[in-house]
Amino acid sequence: MHKLARLDQKHVWHPFTQMRDWAKREPIVLARGKGAVLEDVSGKKFLDANASIWTNLHGHNHPKLNAAVQRQLKKVAHTSALGFANEPAALLAERLVKSAKGSLKKVFFSDDGSTALEVALKMSYEFTRRTGRARVPKFLSLEGAYHGDTVGAVSVGHIDLFHKAYGGLLFKSDQVMSPYCYRCPFNRAKAGREDARIGRKCNWECVGKVEAKLKRRKYAAIVVEPRVQGAAGMIAHPEGWLKRIGKAVRASGTQLIADEVMTGFGRTGATFACQKEKVTPDFLCVAKGLTGGYLPMAATLTTQAVFDAFLGEYEEFKTFFHGHSYTGNQLGASAALASLEILHAAESKKKRRRLEKLLRDELQTLWPLACVGDVRQEGLVAGVELVADWRTRKAFPLKAQAGIRVCEAMARRGVLTRPIGNVIPLLPPYCTTTAQLRKMVCALRESVAEVLGGAKV
Ligand SMILES: Cc1ncc(COP(=O)(O)O)c(C=O)c1O
Repeated sequence: MHKLARLDQKHVWHPFTQMRDWAKREPIVLARGKGAVLEDVSGKKFLDANASIWTNLHGHNHPKLNAAVQRQLKKVAHTSALGFANEPAALLAERLVKSAKGSLKKVFFSDDGSTALEVALKMSYEFTRRTGRARVPKFLSLEGAYHGDTVGAVSVGHIDLFHKAYGGLLFKSDQVMSPYCYRCPFNRAKAGREDARIGRKCNWECVGKVEAKLKRRKYAAIVVEPRVQGAAGMIAHPEGWLKRIGKAVRASGTQLIADEVMTGFGRTGATFACQKEKVTPDFLCVAKGLTGGYLPMAATLTTQAVFDAFLGEYEEFKTFFHGHSYTGNQLGASAALASLEILHAAESKKKRRRLEKLLRDELQTLWPLACVGDVRQEGLVAGVELVADWRTRKAFPLKAQAGIRVCEAMARRGVLTRPIGNVIPLLPPYCTTTAQLRKMVCALRESVAEVLGGAKV
């Protein structure tokens, strides 16, 4: 075993990992990257098929991102935002406001997706109280919601497996039906094909459930991942759901927190997923791809109205009492500015559209496999749901580790991704070539066949 693998096993505690299993196998120790390729310490190459847990946009070791970070390094790496401004953070705030369009004018920087959500939750809670809408406002979020691992973010999460253990630590929030068409109790469409998800007779029962909740109680906000719920299993929402929710939320006076930690920065096709349905949230939370996958940094964008609710004389103490040591980090902001420049270039937009179409075509080759129940795609996010029986949509029990075994087989074929239960995500970096994308899907197809069996009969 490589000495670094041994050191890792001796001392490092990995996130979301059963460490007893981790200790049984030699871990892959990644040392280098270029474009969509990662290389381990022994020189073995892999494709980064989940963009290093949904963070990487333009590829590893990108010359423009490297140059931006190096330029900044020659000046200063970090200075505090408590009491001081800095150039890259100011420029980035302006750039983000421009990219978000509409009424989001203020930017609060933090460190990661979870903190971006904490900031939005606290701001929305306090805004709702200060404007007199509710004294102890609650939050509403979707079934299967995942918004991070800090205590506030977990409180609006609804994945029992992750969140149940901490029940006693959390504040209570309500959940409402998610538009998970493949497992919708009202869906009468046939299983086993692309149109298995949306029955022609859809009456938007899922929207009705949200409307009913909003009528019953005065929430501070509803928290949603627009267009696709990531950790819930790459659940692509049906076209029109977000628009309808946006209208219902406005009509009720509730705020909308858009968690674009995964969907932001071109992942779903538009710069932000909300823009695909012309919905403007009150809070836009971004992280992961903000720095192109280079450095941990996040931002919560909000409106002038929310900002104004925190203005007052010093001694009124209406200040937003929240902040982190690395807020507005200069290196992170420099990487983010370079990443946004690449993102908005006409050539890279064209490339993303081409890649999205190629992914759509390639994914079709998975349908014939017996254990493929659903294939979902939204822009450059794909999720393949593995099932024990495609006719009945019966799920594999988690202890069968179907997703884990398929991903291990993919890694043996030189393609890295991480399962979400029985769903295999593919989120290629935007620089992925045609041959590399084909290899990603081919590895998935071959691995499913090897681990779970072949064609539907
Ligand atoms: C939608 C969404 N929100 C929030 C988070 C939490 O982000 P982080 O892991 O950077 O704290 C994640 C992480 O996967 C996410 O997918």
